Amino acid sequence: MGLGCWQLGGDWGVVADDTALTVLGAAVDSGVTFLDTADVYGDGRSERAIGAFLASRPDVAERVTVATKMGRRADPHEPAAYTYDAFCRWTDRSRENLRTDTLDLVQLHCPPTPVFSSDEVFDALDRLVEDGRTAAYGVSVETVDEALAAIARPNVASVQIILNVFRRKPLERVLPAALEAGVGIIARVPLASGLLTGKYDASTQFAPDDHRAYNRNGEAFDVGETFSGVPYDVGVAAAQEVAALTPSGMTTAQLALKWVVQQPGVSVVIPGARTPAQAQANAATDRFPDLDDATLASLERVYDDSIREHVHTRW
Ligand SMILES: NC(=O)c1ccc[n+]([C@@H]2O[C@H](COP(=O)([O-])OP(=O)(O)OC[C@H]3O[C@@H](n4cnc5c(N)ncnc54)[C@H](OP(=O)(O)O)[C@@H]3O)[C@@H](O)[C@H]2O)c1
Repeated sequence: MGLGCWQLGGDWGVVADDTALTVLGAAVDSGVTFLDTADVYGDGRSERAIGAFLASRPDVAERVTVATKMGRRADPHEPAAYTYDAFCRWTDRSRENLRTDTLDLVQLHCPPTPVFSSDEVFDALDRLVEDGRTAAYGVSVETVDEALAAIARPNVASVQIILNVFRRKPLERVLPAALEAGVGIIARVPLASGLLTGKYDASTQFAPDDHRAYNRNGEAFDVGETFSGVPYDVGVAAAQEVAALTPSGMTTAQLALKWVVQQPGVSVVIPGARTPAQAQANAATDRFPDLDDATLASLERVYDDSIREHVHTRW
């Protein structure tokens, strides 16, 4: 279990600087060793929080892997922006924010689709590794086809993709292909932006600066990143059915995380957390046994009956 650090940058309402540090501390002290961030989360704020946190905790810094992302600073965000020079500028800024000479992992941040077929882009990424700017690189993707294209590249270390109870399509081809190729799978949005906690209803309000308020129809970025692209009312109703399946002793969030983590081929799951208690509860998921076959079958029925038609052919 890792920690998604988008919340520590912005786009999820207010998370104060000191809260960001306590969320990181709660996660790492609960056993988390993988942090996912990006250069654009709060325009570097998330990276800087991680850099400050690790500088203050030399006892844990060695065992924590930090994955960041680049590409979304490009304006306009188009394939021509994905050059070696831009990669150097972006990674140099991330290295400074994260206070490290060599990044552990840098991921292309959902690049435009033509980037996946550009040999020049992947040659430039190889050069970043040769330079020592990053130890490895990966790609964060929107669709299964993009994931498969990334997995086919010889030096891609990881693919990050949305995988959760409401997003099952990567199970069909992406996870087997990643296992076969030895590519790590970073499973993001495991709680469908919080829907899969079962805690929202029709009256739930999100802050105006929270993407769950301003990106419901994909106004700012791919709508799949907000509630996994499931219409809110459909998601709330289906999440109630998921909640009814929660095994005793677990929370519904832990059920949802467990489902992701037990899929063969998943390397790490990165739930976002806005509070230390959320980070601790998510890390504690590792203590529970795998979900049984009856629960897995019931979760699949919820998907087939309510969710599939909204997402399956789109991503
Ligand atoms: N394009 C990309 O590469 C991309 C896109 C999206 C995300 N990501 C990465 O993936 C990470 C995870 O995805 P995400 O944050 O979008 O969605 P997520 O993990 O599915 O949902 C996060 C939300 O779930 C709720 N939550 C988390 N733990 C909880 C708990 N124990 N109990 C109750 N509620 C809990 C919180 O909602 P409340 O705020 O309502 O409490 C939290 O903000 C991000 O942080 C980011 O690092 C990458």
